[in-house]
Amino acid sequence: MPPAAAKLSFRAVVFDMDGVVTRTADLHAAAWKELFDDYLRARADRGAGMFEPFDAKGDYLAYVDGKPRQEGARSFLAARGITLPDGSPDDPPDAETIYALARRKDELFERRLQRRGVAVFDSTTALIHVLRSRAVATAVVTSSRHGREVLQSAHVTALFDVILDGTDAARLELKGKPDPDIFLAAAEHLKLAPRQCIVIEDAAAGVMAGRHGGFGLVIGVDRGGNRQALMRSGADIVVADLGEVDVDALDRRFRNRTSASPREPEDAWRVEQEGFDPAREHEMESLFTVGNGYLGVRGSLDMPLPGSQADLFVAGIYDRKQPALPYSELEFLTARRDEYAYAERVPLPFPYRLRVSVGGRTLDLVEGPWRELRRVLDLRHGGLQLFYLFEDKQGRRTAIETWRCASLAEPHLLLQEVTVTCENHDALVEIDTSLHDPDLADHDPHLRALVPESADDVELRAYATQASGYTVALASRARLSGESRDRVYVQAQGKAGVALRLRRCVAIHTNRHDADPIAAARARAQGFSWDAFDRARAAHEACWAEVWRSADVTIGGSVATTQALRFNAYHLRIAANRDPRTSIGARTLSGRAYEGHVFWDVEIFMLPYFVRTFPDIARSLLLYRYYTLDGARSRALSLGYRGACYAWESTVTGADATPRQIILKTSHKKIPIYTGHEQVHVTADIAFAVIRYFEATGDAAFMTEAGAEILFETARFWASRCVRKDDRYHIEAVTGPDEYHHTVNDNAYTNWMARFNLEHAGRMQRWLARQAPEIWKALRSKLAIADEEPALWAAVAEALYLPQANASGVIEQFEGYFELRDYVVPASERFHPPLRRLFESEKINGMQLIKQADVLMLPLLFPERFTREVLAANYRYYEPRTDHASSLSPAVHATLAARLGLPEQAQDYWRRGLWLDLSNTMGNGALGIHAASMAGAWQTLVYGLLGIHVGDDGPVVDREAGRRLPARWQSVELSLYHHGKRYPLRWTAGEEER
Ligand code: BGC
Repeated sequence: MPPAAAKLSFRAVVFDMDGVVTRTADLHAAAWKELFDDYLRARADRGAGMFEPFDAKGDYLAYVDGKPRQEGARSFLAARGITLPDGSPDDPPDAETIYALARRKDELFERRLQRRGVAVFDSTTALIHVLRSRAVATAVVTSSRHGREVLQSAHVTALFDVILDGTDAARLELKGKPDPDIFLAAAEHLKLAPRQCIVIEDAAAGVMAGRHGGFGLVIGVDRGGNRQALMRSGADIVVADLGEVDVDALDRRFRNRTSASPREPEDAWRVEQEGFDPAREHEMESLFTVGNGYLGVRGSLDMPLPGSQADLFVAGIYDRKQPALPYSELEFLTARRDEYAYAERVPLPFPYRLRVSVGGRTLDLVEGPWRELRRVLDLRHGGLQLFYLFEDKQGRRTAIETWRCASLAEPHLLLQEVTVTCENHDALVEIDTSLHDPDLADHDPHLRALVPESADDVELRAYATQASGYTVALASRARLSGESRDRVYVQAQGKAGVALRLRRCVAIHTNRHDADPIAAARARAQGFSWDAFDRARAAHEACWAEVWRSADVTIGGSVATTQALRFNAYHLRIAANRDPRTSIGARTLSGRAYEGHVFWDVEIFMLPYFVRTFPDIARSLLLYRYYTLDGARSRALSLGYRGACYAWESTVTGADATPRQIILKTSHKKIPIYTGHEQVHVTADIAFAVIRYFEATGDAAFMTEAGAEILFETARFWASRCVRKDDRYHIEAVTGPDEYHHTVNDNAYTNWMARFNLEHAGRMQRWLARQAPEIWKALRSKLAIADEEPALWAAVAEALYLPQANASGVIEQFEGYFELRDYVVPASERFHPPLRRLFESEKINGMQLIKQADVLMLPLLFPERFTREVLAANYRYYEPRTDHASSLSPAVHATLAARLGLPEQAQDYWRRGLWLDLSNTMGNGALGIHAASMAGAWQTLVYGLLGIHVGDDGPVVDREAGRRLPARWQSVELSLYHHGKRYPLRWTAGEEER
């Protein structure tokens, strides 16, 4: 190093130990392999499944690397469909529990360690020497309890200012990666802010942890086969070895990344993926979905692979259940075949399908060989770009770049542009744009292909659903640059370095809106010219500019947070339509989970977002409930009640589409599902949303034309559903938001919500009679509301039993809950999808373990009704008993923790919700994004962290907000609607002190 070397801008580097500093990753991988192979073989010998060995590379990287031992054992076994009880740390090593397996792994590792000793990566120690000579501090972290021992036997202890290993992590109660705890603790020990430090990691979970912790830069070390996972997890740079790192170049990179420019860096406007990982392709397809609410197309490659889930979904197109499609999670088999004709949303053929050949050879990831693949989601303009580079054995390189969008200006229109460049050779280029899917029956089992007459300049495809009677038509036109006519199949002589461009539009119509959808699709695609494409793209991008005027949130000081907020806002916008006959499925139009069913997620989690950003969309979502009132009325009747009872899972008619039973694939155990007939709180949730929408918009036309009818019919339902005992009304045999307890009486949440519904129906009846007596008269006669009915609603509301806080301030979740076996959830059991719990559903019905916020929903929705003490008592009681197996739960806890003045817990829960999809923290992103969590994270930011209060003069940021926000944030900018006006809001760090 020259003596005058410049001072570096980063102050410390935090190294992960295994695989970055020490060569212990191989020892770990081998110990895991020995452990699992023994275990799996013994299982197979017992006849429980086939023996499939542990892959010391793939399985190690995907499931166990970087995680605490128990966590690693659990995730690998879960991937094999095996669930074991946790057991306890004292279990003997041969017990069949997670603890016992973890312990055995530890023994195997130690044995290997003693036999082989520890080697270090010389390139890493060389880098450490350079760093230290230039006044950069160094730290090392590991979740291994043997960390210090390992460093000592490798003689490298003296190279670090701070060492934190698994023993320290347990003592300090630090959570395992991908939680940033251990890295944050290292920064704290170094007395530095995370943004002043660089993290170096070889595990995807560790890269995520560095990213979530807000570190200045995260370097991934890929020692083979893990590059894509590291990039996707948020690594800024990936190297094969630290010998590649030049400290001055690193410094430049660090400065560029963290320099606070007045304008938001472009990074926060896009989400990128490099490379290809077959195991995570379905997850990527969910993240890179394009759409406009009318339709959504998953982000599959233009030349889809045989295993792709390259679905197009059109809102409102449902059909009878197909046994070939799983219910929600992959572990579920379809139980009884339900004859309801609108039971599940229909996956439709991929509309961007291409086949590209160069010099007679097909170019796709199967035929390859490919060198580069990149997907870039352009959030600002609502488009997806894909870049592919193929190179054959002779070194001939061909680049393909594509761009696609689902027009926000014309919802029936898709655009695609394709550029093929033979980079260093000449060859015949052929592009076939035919939408024909040879595996239609497997991919889209609901469809029967119709044969409309195509011409060779336009391709027409049409499909009929099996039972629901829908017809979906696609018209595709494509044209090569410089040509005067459209063709389905084009060919041209490719010249070295000269790009060939093709543009295509696909129009999609269904008989939901058009009597002749084939003619409508043909007409829309007709006359589509090269220039029309430019105009259509400009119109689409102008719509997105409008979207961001209302929806953008920027965080000064954290590009990663801004990016995540924008990604979520993008997905929420493309999920929503202004068609009042459809609503948003739990996983939007981005995946198959929950079969496109609509839950309370919309009214309680998403609507508060839409009300303040796109009030017209919020209106349309509520109108969907208005148009499905008939279904809700029939349902109430069939259950023996009056009025309207909304479906727990709804599609297009309002009939309940919840499955009654599921079958677990691995054990064939049948699990009854109670939610369909018991989770009646959804009815009151909808009424609640009607009122909150009205309060936020003052939209009297909506209230008179639709809202009031919803309120009256739902109040009627409750008046007949509540039972009178002694002098009180009670609600019996329900399931609350916590789905682990079914058939309970007086669930506090349900009772509170029902009372709200009854009270507000009465209020709105008086309002309507005053404001619009004619409409009230007409409605009264349409619904045959008897004169005494409004008084009955008030009487039931008044006498409805509302569980109150006990002497400790805690509200009992339902009658008898406090008598159940107590259960405080260990950290390792939190934030997993509920799959494991289904194996023991009856057992957990008898425990205090809960799935998601239930009582805690009340102070969230009625903050003014609970004192701080009662909120604190309930949070303290229920939070440790909640396993957050629903993605809806973290945001609720985040908001309440923020209100309680627990900033660290608030931020921790908030980050979980905010990055749930981008980091796939629940591991089920393949089936679509989690819209309620996205909107929930927005609610936490607005109402929890910023503490925004909406008064008569519009929204105002709480003056104390700074105490709840992450220290590195310099500013927050966003805007909210109130009564038709958009209010720009800004919080700036330090202002409250002035
Ligand atoms: C949750 C429900 C939610 C549904 C759809 C379930 O796991 O428990 O509250 O409505 O998922 O998101």
